[in-house]
Amino acid sequence: MRLLAAFSSLLSLSSALALDARQAKPTPGNLVQVTNFGTAPTKAAFWIYVPKKLAEVPGIVVAVHYCTGTAQQYYSGSPYKTLSEQYGFIVIYPSSPHSGTCWDVSSKATLSHNGGGDSNTIANMVKWTITTYAADAAKVFVTGTSSGAMMTNVLAATYPDMFAAGIAYSGVPAGCFVSTSNGVAAWNGTCADGRAVATPQKWAQVVFDMYPGYNGTRPKMQIYHGSADATIRPQNYQETMKQWAGVFGYNYDKPELTKSNDPQSGYTRTTYGPRAEGIYASGVGHSVAIRGADDMKFFGFA
Ligand SMILES: *[C@@H]1O[C@H](CO)[C@@H](O)[C@H](O)[C@H]1NC(C)=O
Ligand SMILES: *[C@@H]1O[C@H](CO)[C@@H](O)[C@H](O)[C@H]1NC(C)=O
Repeated sequence: MRLLAAFSSLLSLSSALALDARQAKPTPGNLVQVTNFGTAPTKAAFWIYVPKKLAEVPGIVVAVHYCTGTAQQYYSGSPYKTLSEQYGFIVIYPSSPHSGTCWDVSSKATLSHNGGGDSNTIANMVKWTITTYAADAAKVFVTGTSSGAMMTNVLAATYPDMFAAGIAYSGVPAGCFVSTSNGVAAWNGTCADGRAVATPQKWAQVVFDMYPGYNGTRPKMQIYHGSADATIRPQNYQETMKQWAGVFGYNYDKPELTKSNDPQSGYTRTTYGPRAEGIYASGVGHSVAIRGADDMKFFGFA
Protein backbone atom coordinates (compact mmCIF):
# COMPACT_ATOMS: atom_id res chain seq x y z
CA MET A 1 0.00 0.00 0.00
CA ARG A 2 2.72 2.40 1.02
CA LEU A 3 4.65 1.40 -2.07
CA LEU A 4 1.64 2.15 -4.23
CA ALA A 5 1.25 5.59 -2.65
CA ALA A 6 4.91 6.32 -3.17
CA PHE A 7 4.65 5.16 -6.75
CA SER A 8 1.62 7.30 -7.55
CA SER A 9 3.15 10.38 -5.97
CA LEU A 10 6.22 9.76 -8.10
CA LEU A 11 3.96 9.55 -11.13
CA SER A 12 2.21 12.83 -10.35
CA LEU A 13 5.59 14.43 -9.74
CA SER A 14 6.87 13.37 -13.14
CA SER A 15 3.73 14.60 -14.86
CA ALA A 16 3.84 17.96 -13.10
CA LEU A 17 3.66 20.58 -15.79
CA ALA A 18 5.86 23.26 -14.27
CA LEU A 19 9.51 22.91 -15.18
CA ASP A 20 12.48 23.55 -13.04
CA ALA A 21 16.20 23.50 -13.62
CA ARG A 22 16.42 19.73 -13.16
CA GLN A 23 14.06 19.09 -16.07
CA ALA A 24 15.72 21.02 -18.84
CA LYS A 25 13.33 20.10 -21.63
CA PRO A 26 9.52 20.08 -21.66
CA THR A 27 7.79 16.76 -22.33
CA PRO A 28 6.76 16.60 -26.00
CA GLY A 29 3.05 16.37 -26.78
CA ASN A 30 1.98 18.49 -23.79
CA LEU A 31 1.37 22.16 -23.13
CA VAL A 32 4.07 22.86 -20.54
CA GLN A 33 5.03 25.98 -18.60
CA VAL A 34 8.67 26.99 -18.68
CA THR A 35 9.38 28.90 -15.50
CA ASN A 36 13.08 29.44 -15.89
CA PHE A 37 14.12 30.93 -19.21
CA GLY A 38 16.65 33.56 -18.24
CA THR A 39 15.71 37.20 -17.99
CA ALA A 40 12.00 37.95 -17.92
CA PRO A 41 11.55 41.71 -17.55
CA THR A 42 7.77 41.28 -17.15
CA LYS A 43 5.70 38.51 -15.59
CA ALA A 44 4.35 37.22 -18.92
CA ALA A 45 4.16 33.44 -18.56
CA PHE A 46 5.89 31.10 -21.00
CA TRP A 47 3.98 28.03 -22.19
CA ILE A 48 5.39 25.79 -24.85
CA TYR A 49 4.19 22.93 -27.03
CA VAL A 50 6.91 20.68 -28.38
CA PRO A 51 5.43 18.25 -30.90
CA LYS A 52 5.98 14.52 -30.56
CA LYS A 53 7.27 14.60 -34.13
CA LEU A 54 9.80 17.39 -33.71
CA ALA A 55 11.70 18.40 -36.84
CA GLU A 56 15.44 17.86 -36.77
CA VAL A 57 16.04 21.61 -36.92
CA PRO A 58 12.63 22.93 -35.86
CA GLY A 59 11.05 26.25 -36.66
CA ILE A 60 9.14 28.23 -34.01
CA VAL A 61 5.68 29.80 -34.08
CA VAL A 62 4.79 32.30 -31.35
CA ALA A 63 0.98 32.26 -30.96
CA VAL A 64 -0.35 35.18 -28.95
CA HIS A 65 -3.78 35.16 -27.28
CA TYR A 66 -6.51 37.84 -27.19
CA CYS A 67 -7.73 39.92 -24.18
CA THR A 68 -9.46 37.75 -21.53
CA GLY A 69 -7.67 34.77 -23.09
CA THR A 70 -4.80 32.67 -21.81
CA ALA A 71 -2.06 30.51 -23.25
CA GLN A 72 -4.20 27.46 -22.49
CA GLN A 73 -7.21 28.88 -24.30
CA TYR A 74 -5.22 29.82 -27.39
CA TYR A 75 -3.62 26.39 -27.32
CA SER A 76 -7.04 24.69 -27.38
CA GLY A 77 -8.78 27.23 -29.60
CA SER A 78 -6.23 27.68 -32.40
CA PRO A 79 -4.90 25.16 -34.92
CA TYR A 80 -1.16 25.59 -34.25
CA LYS A 81 -0.73 22.60 -31.91
CA THR A 82 -2.17 20.25 -34.55
CA LEU A 83 -0.14 21.92 -37.29
CA SER A 84 3.04 21.61 -35.22
CA GLU A 85 2.58 17.82 -35.18
CA GLN A 86 2.22 17.94 -38.95
CA TYR A 87 5.22 20.20 -39.64
CA GLY A 88 7.43 19.61 -36.60
CA PHE A 89 7.75 23.19 -35.35
CA ILE A 90 7.58 24.32 -31.72
CA VAL A 91 4.75 26.58 -30.54
CA ILE A 92 5.32 29.24 -27.88
CA TYR A 93 2.12 30.41 -26.16
CA PRO A 94 2.89 33.45 -24.02
CA SER A 95 0.30 34.32 -21.35
CA SER A 96 -0.38 37.93 -20.38
CA PRO A 97 0.29 38.91 -16.76
CA HIS A 98 -2.04 41.93 -16.82
CA SER A 99 -5.55 42.19 -15.40
CA GLY A 100 -8.00 41.45 -18.21
CA THR A 101 -5.08 39.67 -19.93
CA CYS A 102 -4.61 42.23 -22.69
CA TRP A 103 -1.00 42.53 -23.80
CA ASP A 104 1.08 45.59 -23.09
CA VAL A 105 1.21 47.25 -26.49
CA SER A 106 1.13 50.78 -25.06
CA SER A 107 4.17 51.47 -22.85
CA LYS A 108 7.46 52.90 -24.06
CA ALA A 109 9.18 49.76 -22.72
CA THR A 110 7.19 47.30 -24.81
CA LEU A 111 7.36 49.54 -27.89
CA SER A 112 11.18 49.48 -27.83
CA HIS A 113 13.70 46.84 -28.88
CA ASN A 114 15.05 45.32 -25.64
CA GLY A 115 13.01 47.92 -23.76
CA GLY A 116 12.03 45.64 -20.88
CA GLY A 117 8.32 45.24 -21.69
CA ASP A 118 6.20 42.22 -22.64
CA SER A 119 7.68 42.22 -26.16
CA ASN A 120 11.11 41.80 -24.58
CA THR A 121 9.92 38.94 -22.36
CA ILE A 122 8.42 37.14 -25.37
CA ALA A 123 11.64 37.68 -27.37
CA ASN A 124 13.54 36.04 -24.49
CA MET A 125 11.19 33.03 -24.67
CA VAL A 126 12.16 32.72 -28.34
CA LYS A 127 15.87 32.96 -27.53
CA TRP A 128 15.58 30.24 -24.87
CA THR A 129 13.76 27.98 -27.35
CA ILE A 130 16.32 28.51 -30.12
CA THR A 131 19.14 27.63 -27.74
CA THR A 132 17.44 24.71 -25.98
CA TYR A 133 16.27 23.00 -29.17
CA ALA A 134 18.98 24.20 -31.59
CA ALA A 135 16.00 25.56 -33.52
CA ASP A 136 16.22 27.26 -36.90
CA ALA A 137 16.67 30.96 -36.12
CA ALA A 138 15.64 31.76 -39.70
CA LYS A 139 12.24 30.11 -39.20
CA VAL A 140 10.77 32.05 -36.30
CA PHE A 141 7.23 33.35 -36.83
CA VAL A 142 4.59 35.22 -34.87
CA THR A 143 0.82 35.31 -35.07
CA GLY A 144 -2.04 36.35 -32.84
CA THR A 145 -5.63 37.42 -32.50
CA SER A 146 -6.91 40.85 -31.41
CA SER A 147 -4.58 41.97 -28.57
CA GLY A 148 -2.34 39.14 -29.78
CA ALA A 149 -2.46 40.63 -33.27
CA MET A 150 -1.44 43.99 -31.83
CA MET A 151 1.47 42.22 -30.15
CA THR A 152 2.30 40.50 -33.44
CA ASN A 153 2.75 43.89 -35.10
CA VAL A 154 4.72 45.17 -32.07
CA LEU A 155 7.05 42.13 -32.12
CA ALA A 156 7.58 42.50 -35.88
CA ALA A 157 8.54 46.13 -35.26
CA THR A 158 10.69 45.69 -32.13
CA TYR A 159 12.38 42.40 -33.13
CA PRO A 160 12.66 42.55 -36.94
CA ASP A 161 15.89 40.55 -36.63
CA MET A 162 14.10 37.68 -34.89
CA PHE A 163 10.97 37.07 -36.96
CA ALA A 164 10.81 35.94 -40.58
CA ALA A 165 7.07 36.63 -40.89
CA GLY A 166 4.02 37.71 -38.93
CA ILE A 167 0.28 37.17 -39.35
CA ALA A 168 -2.09 39.46 -37.45
CA TYR A 169 -5.79 38.66 -37.04
CA SER A 170 -7.82 41.76 -36.16
CA GLY A 171 -5.22 44.05 -34.60
CA VAL A 172 -3.92 47.61 -34.94
CA PRO A 173 -0.70 49.12 -36.35
CA ALA A 174 2.40 48.78 -34.19
CA GLY A 175 2.42 51.77 -31.84
CA CYS A 176 -1.22 52.70 -32.47
CA PHE A 177 -2.17 51.78 -28.89
CA VAL A 178 0.61 53.99 -27.48
CA SER A 179 -0.15 55.55 -24.10
CA THR A 180 1.11 59.12 -23.91
CA SER A 181 1.15 58.75 -20.10
CA ASN A 182 3.20 55.55 -20.51
CA GLY A 183 0.47 53.26 -19.17
CA VAL A 184 1.11 49.52 -19.28
CA ALA A 185 -1.47 47.47 -21.20
CA ALA A 186 -3.57 50.63 -21.49
CA TRP A 187 -6.62 50.80 -23.72
CA ASN A 188 -6.41 53.40 -26.50
CA GLY A 189 -9.90 54.34 -27.65
CA THR A 190 -8.66 56.70 -30.35
CA CYS A 191 -6.91 53.81 -32.04
CA ALA A 192 -9.56 51.15 -31.35
CA ASP A 193 -12.23 53.44 -32.80
CA GLY A 194 -10.22 53.92 -35.97
CA ARG A 195 -9.48 57.59 -35.35
CA ALA A 196 -5.69 57.27 -35.39
CA VAL A 197 -5.15 58.04 -39.06
CA ALA A 198 -1.72 58.84 -40.50
CA THR A 199 0.34 58.59 -43.69
CA PRO A 200 2.32 55.47 -44.62
CA GLN A 201 5.50 57.47 -43.93
CA LYS A 202 4.33 58.41 -40.41
CA TRP A 203 3.31 54.86 -39.56
CA ALA A 204 6.58 53.50 -40.95
CA GLN A 205 8.51 55.97 -38.80
CA VAL A 206 6.68 54.62 -35.72
CA VAL A 207 8.13 51.20 -36.60
CA PHE A 208 11.63 52.53 -37.33
CA ASP A 209 11.67 54.40 -34.00
CA MET A 210 11.09 51.16 -32.07
CA TYR A 211 14.53 49.92 -33.11
CA PRO A 212 16.57 52.94 -34.16
CA GLY A 213 19.46 52.22 -36.51
CA TYR A 214 18.18 48.78 -37.52
CA ASN A 215 18.69 48.31 -41.23
CA GLY A 216 18.45 44.55 -41.72
CA THR A 217 15.71 42.36 -43.17
CA ARG A 218 12.23 42.72 -41.70
CA PRO A 219 9.48 40.10 -41.36
CA LYS A 220 6.98 39.83 -44.18
CA MET A 221 3.51 40.63 -42.92
CA GLN A 222 -0.01 39.39 -43.53
CA ILE A 223 -2.91 41.29 -41.98
CA TYR A 224 -6.49 40.03 -41.59
CA HIS A 225 -9.41 42.25 -40.55
CA GLY A 226 -13.20 42.09 -40.65
CA SER A 227 -15.17 44.94 -42.21
CA ALA A 228 -17.84 44.68 -39.49
CA ASP A 229 -15.41 44.78 -36.57
CA ALA A 230 -17.04 46.95 -33.88
CA THR A 231 -14.29 46.42 -31.26
CA ILE A 232 -11.19 47.27 -33.28
CA ARG A 233 -12.68 49.37 -36.07
CA PRO A 234 -11.83 48.35 -39.64
CA GLN A 235 -9.96 51.63 -40.28
CA ASN A 236 -7.18 49.86 -38.39
CA TYR A 237 -6.84 47.54 -41.37
CA GLN A 238 -6.10 50.48 -43.68
CA GLU A 239 -3.71 52.01 -41.15
CA THR A 240 -1.83 48.74 -40.63
CA MET A 241 -1.48 48.24 -44.38
CA LYS A 242 -0.19 51.80 -44.70
CA GLN A 243 2.34 51.02 -41.99
CA TRP A 244 3.85 47.90 -43.55
CA ALA A 245 3.61 49.25 -47.10
CA GLY A 246 5.48 52.30 -45.80
CA VAL A 247 8.11 50.21 -44.02
CA PHE A 248 8.86 48.24 -47.18
CA GLY A 249 8.68 51.28 -49.45
CA TYR A 250 5.63 50.02 -51.37
CA ASN A 251 3.09 52.44 -52.78
CA TYR A 252 0.05 52.09 -50.52
CA ASP A 253 -2.15 53.84 -53.11
CA LYS A 254 -1.08 51.48 -55.88
CA PRO A 255 -1.08 47.89 -54.62
CA GLU A 256 0.48 45.29 -56.88
CA LEU A 257 -2.64 43.15 -56.93
CA THR A 258 -6.16 43.18 -55.54
CA LYS A 259 -8.14 39.96 -55.78
CA SER A 260 -11.78 39.50 -54.75
CA ASN A 261 -13.11 36.30 -53.20
CA ASP A 262 -9.61 35.27 -52.18
CA PRO A 263 -8.89 33.19 -50.07
CA GLN A 264 -12.65 32.66 -49.74
CA SER A 265 -15.92 34.19 -50.84
CA GLY A 266 -16.34 37.72 -49.48
CA TYR A 267 -12.66 38.16 -48.61
CA THR A 268 -10.38 40.43 -50.64
CA ARG A 269 -6.63 39.95 -50.78
CA THR A 270 -4.49 42.99 -51.49
CA THR A 271 -0.81 42.52 -52.22
CA TYR A 272 1.26 45.65 -51.74
CA GLY A 273 4.54 43.95 -52.52
CA PRO A 274 6.30 40.66 -51.84
CA ARG A 275 6.50 41.35 -48.08
CA ALA A 276 3.13 42.90 -47.23
CA GLU A 277 -0.39 41.74 -47.93
CA GLY A 278 -3.78 42.27 -46.38
CA ILE A 279 -6.95 40.20 -46.34
CA TYR A 280 -10.16 42.12 -45.70
CA ALA A 281 -13.12 40.00 -44.67
CA SER A 282 -16.37 41.59 -45.75
CA GLY A 283 -19.17 41.33 -43.20
CA VAL A 284 -16.96 39.63 -40.61
CA GLY A 285 -16.80 41.08 -37.09
CA HIS A 286 -13.99 41.11 -34.53
CA SER A 287 -11.69 38.10 -34.51
CA VAL A 288 -11.52 36.72 -38.02
CA ALA A 289 -11.25 32.92 -37.93
CA ILE A 290 -7.68 31.65 -38.10
CA ARG A 291 -6.79 30.06 -41.44
CA GLY A 292 -4.23 27.55 -40.25
CA ALA A 293 -3.44 25.89 -43.59
CA ASP A 294 -2.92 29.31 -45.23
CA ASP A 295 -0.74 30.41 -42.31
CA MET A 296 1.49 27.41 -42.97
CA LYS A 297 1.89 28.51 -46.59
CA PHE A 298 2.69 32.09 -45.62
CA PHE A 299 5.27 30.89 -43.08
CA GLY A 300 6.75 28.53 -45.66
CA PHE A 301 6.08 25.27 -43.79
CA ALA A 302 3.59 24.00 -46.37
C1 LIG B 1 -3.68 56.80 -28.52
O1 LIG B 1 -2.86 56.58 -29.63
C2 LIG B 1 -2.71 57.65 -30.51
C3 LIG B 1 -1.83 57.18 -31.67
O2 LIG B 1 -2.34 56.02 -32.22
C4 LIG B 1 -2.10 58.83 -29.78
O3 LIG B 1 -2.03 59.94 -30.63
C5 LIG B 1 -2.93 59.15 -28.55
O4 LIG B 1 -2.30 60.17 -27.81
C6 LIG B 1 -3.10 57.92 -27.68
N1 LIG B 1 -3.99 58.21 -26.55
C7 LIG B 1 -3.59 58.23 -25.29
C8 LIG B 1 -4.66 58.53 -24.26
O5 LIG B 1 -2.44 58.07 -24.93
C1 LIG C 1 23.55 49.00 -40.99
O1 LIG C 1 23.80 48.93 -39.61
C2 LIG C 1 25.08 48.43 -39.28
C3 LIG C 1 25.13 48.22 -37.79
O2 LIG C 1 24.42 49.21 -37.10
C4 LIG C 1 26.13 49.39 -39.81
O3 LIG C 1 27.40 48.89 -39.50
C5 LIG C 1 25.96 49.50 -41.31
O4 LIG C 1 26.85 50.48 -41.81
C6 LIG C 1 24.55 49.91 -41.67
N1 LIG C 1 24.38 49.82 -43.11
C7 LIG C 1 23.79 50.78 -43.82
C8 LIG C 1 23.67 50.51 -45.29
O5 LIG C 1 23.34 51.79 -43.33
